[in-house]
Amino acid sequence: MKIRVPATSANLGCGFDSCGIALSLYLHLDTGVEAEEWQIEHRLEGVSHDESNLIITTALALKPDLKPRKMTMQTDIPPARGLGSSSTAIVAGIELANREGQLGLTRKEKLAIATEMEGHPDNVGPAIYGDFVVACYDQKEVNSVKHHFPDCDVVVFIPDQELLTSESRDILPKELPYKEAVTASGISNVMIGAVLNGNLPLAGKMMEQDLWHEKYRGELIPHLKPLRDLGHQVGVYGTVLSGAGPTILTLCPYELTETFVASVKALGLAGKVEILAVDKEGT
Ligand code: HSE
Repeated sequence: MKIRVPATSANLGCGFDSCGIALSLYLHLDTGVEAEEWQIEHRLEGVSHDESNLIITTALALKPDLKPRKMTMQTDIPPARGLGSSSTAIVAGIELANREGQLGLTRKEKLAIATEMEGHPDNVGPAIYGDFVVACYDQKEVNSVKHHFPDCDVVVFIPDQELLTSESRDILPKELPYKEAVTASGISNVMIGAVLNGNLPLAGKMMEQDLWHEKYRGELIPHLKPLRDLGHQVGVYGTVLSGAGPTILTLCPYELTETFVASVKALGLAGKVEILAVDKEGT
């Protein structure tokens, strides 16, 4: 059986821990055949090939008596770059248990399981549903909405260096003053409303006004500011951190993509630039 899980970009700036989009980069898992022991072939450095692999531990957490399989996995999603690579492994593991163990899970059930494992729903939501997902988790239940994301190119600058999500979360404050939280929530609400209205200029403007996390993470991710400044010069919709970083995501009108990508390359930053689309299928 073949399972395909899209990469994701969480937060979209101001939608911290609750908004995300699915992207056209994929993890492909072929669930192969039953075997004596669990085995997963892949070419990733530092990722295990046996039953300690995250895909397999996730599947076994859901269905402990799942029979071992010899599987293959290939992924386009670089690890520790803010593109949801660990979420793709969790979602692939849930889908492995679901299909090979005939669990008959709904997407809503998969989202609840994945969110509990990941701690927040903003990567696993779009990885499961595709497109644009807004979701909240209060440690008891997940409530979510999936909606069409307006048409645009998604340009990502993926730096060479990795950044662990844990490191990028540790730098965040434990509390925000009430007034600032109210403003931050309003900015996020308008961003979501603008996406639902298909108004990407307003959505992009709001995304860049995040008050929850980007200013704290700026010192770990110094290339955000020059790329955002470049985006303003070219006239793109908006430039934000992808998830916890260090990848930077820019929403681009189709007609400006070529100019923006050429300008990013001219900056000579260490990393690569890719033009992606919003994945509409999920898993
Ligand atoms: N919302 C999360 C964060 C996404 O920004 O830390 C990281 O996976």
